[in-house]
Amino acid sequence: MYETWEELEKSIENCNKCKLCKMRQNIVFGVGNKNAEVMFIGEGPGADEDRLGEPFVGKAGKLMDMAFDVVGIKREEVYIANIVKCRPPNNRNPEEDECEACLDYLRNQVLLVKPKIIVLLGSVALKHILGKEYGITSSRGKVIEKKGITYIPTWHPAALLRDENKKIDFIRDLKILQSKDF
Ligand code: URA
Ligand code: SF4
Repeated sequence: MYETWEELEKSIENCNKCKLCKMRQNIVFGVGNKNAEVMFIGEGPGADEDRLGEPFVGKAGKLMDMAFDVVGIKREEVYIANIVKCRPPNNRNPEEDECEACLDYLRNQVLLVKPKIIVLLGSVALKHILGKEYGITSSRGKVIEKKGITYIPTWHPAALLRDENKKIDFIRDLKILQSKDF
């Protein structure tokens, strides 16, 4: 584990620890407030993120921004990262070996940000951070305390594109953040 952002960022340059390195345009490391109290963890970059090098800047990201507006979360106040930093081809889910190879970077990001709350966006984030025994449908909207961090699993923003009801759930889950006493 690295003690500084500089060392961590340097360590990921030209990373070839998994096969996703072959197809990427950009490594999508993470963005936001490095001292954030709230961190959001997604799955992996899509086409727009791969092109721009920033998480959640495509369609799903726009929807997430809209939900942020509704509940009064400022994107620049939180920290946003993904389970894998390089785009899986055709937006497939990242495979197990890819997640395993990449997770140390995310663990190090969490150590450096030291968030009080982590919002887990979708099943891939939930299962890799809290464990395979967790399912998104039964866990979403719940507040799970573990080792001094509060976890809030919710739908992945891309799921909101397909289902209006999930938008309502998502906003409700984000509102839990506002009700927490920091
Ligand atoms: N979906 C994700 O999981 N992460 C992104 O950064 C963009 C879309
Ligand atoms: Fe490295 Fe992660 Fe990209 Fe794989 S996904 S090449 S482990 S940065």
